[in-house]
Amino acid sequence: MSFQKPARLRRTATLRNLVRETRLCVEDLIRPIFVTHSNNRSAIESMPDQFHFPLGEIEKTIEESMKLGINGIILFGISETKDETGTDNVNENGIIQRTVKMIRKSFPELIIITDACFCQYTTHGHCGILNENGIIDRKSSLKQLQAQAISHVKAGADFVAPSCMIDGMVQYIRDALDEKGYEDRGILSYAVKYASAFYGPFRDAVDSAPQQGDRKSYQMDPGNIREALKEAQMDEDEGADIIMVKPALPYLDVIREVKNKVSCPVAAYQVSGEYAMIKAAAQNSWIDESKSMMESLLGIKRAGADIIITYFADAAARLIVSKL
Ligand code: PBG
Repeated sequence: MSFQKPARLRRTATLRNLVRETRLCVEDLIRPIFVTHSNNRSAIESMPDQFHFPLGEIEKTIEESMKLGINGIILFGISETKDETGTDNVNENGIIQRTVKMIRKSFPELIIITDACFCQYTTHGHCGILNENGIIDRKSSLKQLQAQAISHVKAGADFVAPSCMIDGMVQYIRDALDEKGYEDRGILSYAVKYASAFYGPFRDAVDSAPQQGDRKSYQMDPGNIREALKEAQMDEDEGADIIMVKPALPYLDVIREVKNKVSCPVAAYQVSGEYAMIKAAAQNSWIDESKSMMESLLGIKRAGADIIITYFADAAARLIVSKL
């Protein structure tokens, strides 16, 4: 009896290469970078091989990524002067504004994305300005978010990435950028951002854990996918150029559905906890680091991500380039 034999196409490496449906390219990857006012580089304990970079070392580390073919970065700043309303996020000499100004000059073609939020700048660690009841005040937060976005593009950013999950954030930023003549600068919206336990290492890294309560009243409930599609559609309608889903691995179904729904490019953020899990297991020799890294990234791409933000950007690029 003859029967179907899909294994015929798996017999040799060349055959497997020939029929592979999804390929990860260096061009898909965006590298997150943490920058500080401090003079020294410091390791981030819960994220092995990730660092807080002083301004003086930023250009060198970006150069190394670019040599591997990485063309995009997303910047996170560690503020030195936190206050109740996060005013340092609009400071022309703030850490992000200074960094962007500097690297824009050195790397005219580099895609510079800046995270726009409050949690790294406020003493309470929430993603907006709080009212007297401890709830995010939408109007004042959005006003300040507009100023933050303008200061980022003025410094030279290509894309502002609002991550505060405040309704209307994309519309407000788009209006502000257009009004100031920055019609050519884009918005990468953290449109579908879940209230996730996987942000743990990042919050240690930037010291942004909420001092009281949690983010469940503004970030999404992990059980919801129809709501994700609504968020994605709303942000596209408000003028987002790229829609992001975050985290990635526990939400591959969401990435796929969002991809089917919107017509703009879809990004996925493989967050700090996803990175830390692979690193920790690999350090114990429980899994192979390179293979699990590539498999997770490929899975995210197969799910529908056009762009992947990952702390593995350099490591993955190195592996891809070495095989060319
Ligand atoms: C908020 C922001 C967070 C991350 C990116 N932007 C943290 C949060 O929402 O708590 C998480 C990224 C990661 O975990 O790698 N500004």
